[in-house]
Amino acid sequence: MIVPSPAGELFKQATAQELAQKEHLVFACGRYEGIDQRVFDWAKDKAEVRLISLGDYVLNGGEVASLAMIEAIARLIPGVIGNAESLVEESHSDGLLEYPSYTKPAVWRDLEVPEVLRGGNHAEIAKWRHEQSVSRTKAVRPDLLP
Ligand SMILES: C[S@@+](CC[C@H](N)C(=O)[O-])C[C@H]1O[C@@H](n2cnc3c(N)ncnc32)[C@H](O)[C@@H]1O
Repeated sequence: MIVPSPAGELFKQATAQELAQKEHLVFACGRYEGIDQRVFDWAKDKAEVRLISLGDYVLNGGEVASLAMIEAIARLIPGVIGNAESLVEESHSDGLLEYPSYTKPAVWRDLEVPEVLRGGNHAEIAKWRHEQSVSRTKAVRPDLLP
């Protein structure tokens, strides 16, 4: 039983991975002051009860938080995402933010895809992407780095 709550543990990619292994999840959404504590005290003998927060801010109700969690969890269930490979290099999958992504065309509004990505050297591309991931994480989310 998942209880969205700003007073709960923080929802992370690791939480989504853990919850994607469960056979059943029930989301209990609160409004106003939330849910009476006795509901959790009663439910904990019947199921694992976890209070989970989406972040350090307060929403009006648990529905939007539940939708976000359901989407993050469901896309990890095998078969939901067509290409399982696309889950591997995403932000938070390896503790870093993802490198910037580029697609076609090679030039868009006078802006070019970085040359290294057009060269076809896979080792160079992997190195460039890793460096970009590290510098982006350092700049935006230094708290994620060891
Ligand atoms: C106005 S909030 C209640 C806040 C509560 N009085 C407190 O200070 O912890 C109403 C409901 O919104 C949901 N909610 C609000 N902020 C949330 C967050 N950061 N993460 C998850 N759910 C949240 C919860 O379901 C909560 O019961």
